[in-house]
Amino acid sequence: MSEMNAEGRARLNQLPEWTALGKHREQLADTHLRELFAADPDRGTGYTLRVGDLHLDYSKHLVTDETLRLLRDLAQVTGVAELRDAMFRGEKINTTEDRAVLHTALRAPRDAVVEVDGENVVPGVHAVLDRMAAFSDRIRSGEWTGHTDKRIRNIVNIGIGGSDLGPAMAYEALRSCTDRDLTFRFVSNVDGADLHEALWDLDPAETLFIVASKTFTTIETITNATSARDWLLTGLGAGPEAVAKHFAALSTHADLVAEFGIDTANMFEFWDWVGGRYSYDSAIGLSLMIAIGPDRFREMLDGFHLVDEHFRTAAPEANAPLLLGLLGIWYGAFFGAQSHAVLPYSHYLSKFTAYLQQLDMESNGKSVDREGRPVDWQTGPVVWGTPGTNGQHAYYQLIHQGTKVIPADFIGFARPAPGLLPGLVAQHDLLMANFFAQTQALAFGRTPEEVRAEGVPEALVPHKTFQGNHPTTTILAEELTPSVLGQLIALYEHKVFVQGAVWNIDSFDQWGVELGKVLAKRIEPVLTKGEAGEDLDSSTATLSAKYRALRGR
Ligand code: F6P
Repeated sequence: MSEMNAEGRARLNQLPEWTALGKHREQLADTHLRELFAADPDRGTGYTLRVGDLHLDYSKHLVTDETLRLLRDLAQVTGVAELRDAMFRGEKINTTEDRAVLHTALRAPRDAVVEVDGENVVPGVHAVLDRMAAFSDRIRSGEWTGHTDKRIRNIVNIGIGGSDLGPAMAYEALRSCTDRDLTFRFVSNVDGADLHEALWDLDPAETLFIVASKTFTTIETITNATSARDWLLTGLGAGPEAVAKHFAALSTHADLVAEFGIDTANMFEFWDWVGGRYSYDSAIGLSLMIAIGPDRFREMLDGFHLVDEHFRTAAPEANAPLLLGLLGIWYGAFFGAQSHAVLPYSHYLSKFTAYLQQLDMESNGKSVDREGRPVDWQTGPVVWGTPGTNGQHAYYQLIHQGTKVIPADFIGFARPAPGLLPGLVAQHDLLMANFFAQTQALAFGRTPEEVRAEGVPEALVPHKTFQGNHPTTTILAEELTPSVLGQLIALYEHKVFVQGAVWNIDSFDQWGVELGKVLAKRIEPVLTKGEAGEDLDSSTATLSAKYRALRGR
């Protein structure tokens, strides 16, 4: 008898829909994208979707209409739509933490109603956004001054994981609309070098720290915030009363914020139904709002909301997050793909893939299902990539001619970011020529016959042959605006959701980060005080002793 999950369905790889996909994969065998394009001259127009400002081309995927139908059947039988609706309704779908998952409420319009435990959370969301806007305006206008009445010119966000990656990524992405008179720094690493490099050239009298931590217990953040406070008070030659003008906090824990010494009037709250990696459109985005201004921040939220509505209402055949999620499942399960490359052709998206690493890998890096049983199917991929064209001169070789299946997303824009030096605007066409050339080369390659026809000596033909058939998604938008950034992030959030739903895992907990934290706490006194360290294995004990010796302890 087949095992059932909580909804009374057979486990994923025992479903007839899964078996059907396996058989279909065998039938596809080595079907080449060259054949698929030759068989359907309209593939490049037909296999596309429009979501808001995003044009999404999935024609260069190893799929047919039949594949797509079978994948949608899988989504249907695994209850993706039901789980999605439960998420939007505010049900506690994060079962291991007994929490609702409502980042979508962070960008809901003012008049929307989203209830958690019978309470509409939307008014609270907008009340915090309004307070953030007022605070941002005071910093941006120079009305907010520091302890010595100097205007604030430097904003240092201290946080880690979701309390760093989101605002840091979005600040870079939207740099062209930031206030260039203000300096922004993002500090996350407990390595003192990070804070050092952020502070060494700043004047404490002109510096505002934003301590971003949902729990306000994360050791890296609290350690850096404590050091920042010391630096500030020493630099100002002032007592703790100076903290109020130079520190703000973003957290769900007012008590711990007050205990740290930050005036809770400068605290912007969010809620336990916002996961850290889904939080940069909450109060966690304060540094970004100061950088781009409240209006542009709201445009970004509207972009998120547009894709939320698309995900919630679009038919399965036209539902972009559903499609992207299913394509990833297809390659992981039936092509042995272990990783997924995200390759933005915009230098402003230099931190985009790092942001997605947390979003995807912390969400779907799981190996037990919702019922706690080991899964015997692939879950989340390794997500990696850097902006084009740099990767082309580094690791693209492996994608083109290596032995691994690496599905890749190419993200590009028709226009360069506004405000580039006039002489640089023309370079954009070259950037985008590379963008289009890469997906073309990956899909269609170069046959041995084509290589020979170019007069290449026979011995070199295998080396110069490109097998092609490497799957890619192309996402093209007119310009990287705040709204488009919101649309892109929501697209990936919901893609990750779809995959977690099909794999029947809890995408919203992150127990896997706990063990390292516990062990680090135990090892610290071994390093600093030479304590024996109970239960230390011989490798860690020897390494710790070596470290102490190297430090002259
Ligand atoms: O890495 C674990 C984690 O809890 C992330 O999920 C989170 O984004 C990060 O730590 C920071 O947490 P906090 O905002 O509570 O400091």
